[in-house]
Amino acid sequence: IGHQLHHYEEVDSTQDIVHQLAKQGKPHGTVVVADEQIKGKGRMSRPWHSPKGKGIWMSILLRPELSPVQAPQITLLAATVLAKVITSQSQLIPFIKWPNDILINHKKVSGILTEMQAEHDQIQYVAIGIGINLNQSAEEIPVDIRHKASSLRAESKEEWNITSTIQEILKQFESTYDQYAAEGFNYVKEIWETYGYKIGEKVTISTMRRTWEATLVGIEPDGALIARDSEGKREKLYSAEIQWGE
Ligand code: BTN
Repeated sequence: IGHQLHHYEEVDSTQDIVHQLAKQGKPHGTVVVADEQIKGKGRMSRPWHSPKGKGIWMSILLRPELSPVQAPQITLLAATVLAKVITSQSQLIPFIKWPNDILINHKKVSGILTEMQAEHDQIQYVAIGIGINLNQSAEEIPVDIRHKASSLRAESKEEWNITSTIQEILKQFESTYDQYAAEGFNYVKEIWETYGYKIGEKVTISTMRRTWEATLVGIEPDGALIARDSEGKREKLYSAEIQWGE
């Protein structure tokens, strides 16, 4: 992973570039990195603020031999990679908020966007977009999101090196991916759950149908979050709105 690395000063979105490269037949492990994104994309069609030289804006092309329903496993895997790298490079304690936001001190510092191309019930490729707020000062985080977003520098009080952090992510991604290929989802599940935000804790869940108190239990191979209600009944959550509280 990362043997073919395409670096750009400025792009609309590294995801778009990876889609183009994938369609040109570029191999598994191709990586696109940009200093700045003009139209960075977040999940649920939200914009992703990607200012020049302040973070890691990168997309990885993967060609896993999985069925489309297993694609969420790759996203969960990517989140564990980021949590491991942050742990190894700092004193910070990262949490993964389901499905794949990285939080430090309850604030989001990183997000992952997975886009998949599938045909005949087989994955053609997966584009994993990774955004990490690295070197914004607290004041450089937009005011409207400052209560819930931060950067590694703002939390660690240290400047982060973009290049070496990318190298570390790619190295860790490769070894985690190899382990996952050998051992299966349980390998990812165990790591994910040790970093999982509020796992084992009580939260309020409101789906379209009802609002209830639940204890978060863990994740499933299809990417679902498992919650247990007060009677011990387990429920799988997909896109439920969880009141994460403090
Ligand atoms: C989210 O939390 O909503 C996901 C954010 C993903 C942002 C990254 S930055 C690199 C890649 N290119 C994009 O346009 N988005 C992802």
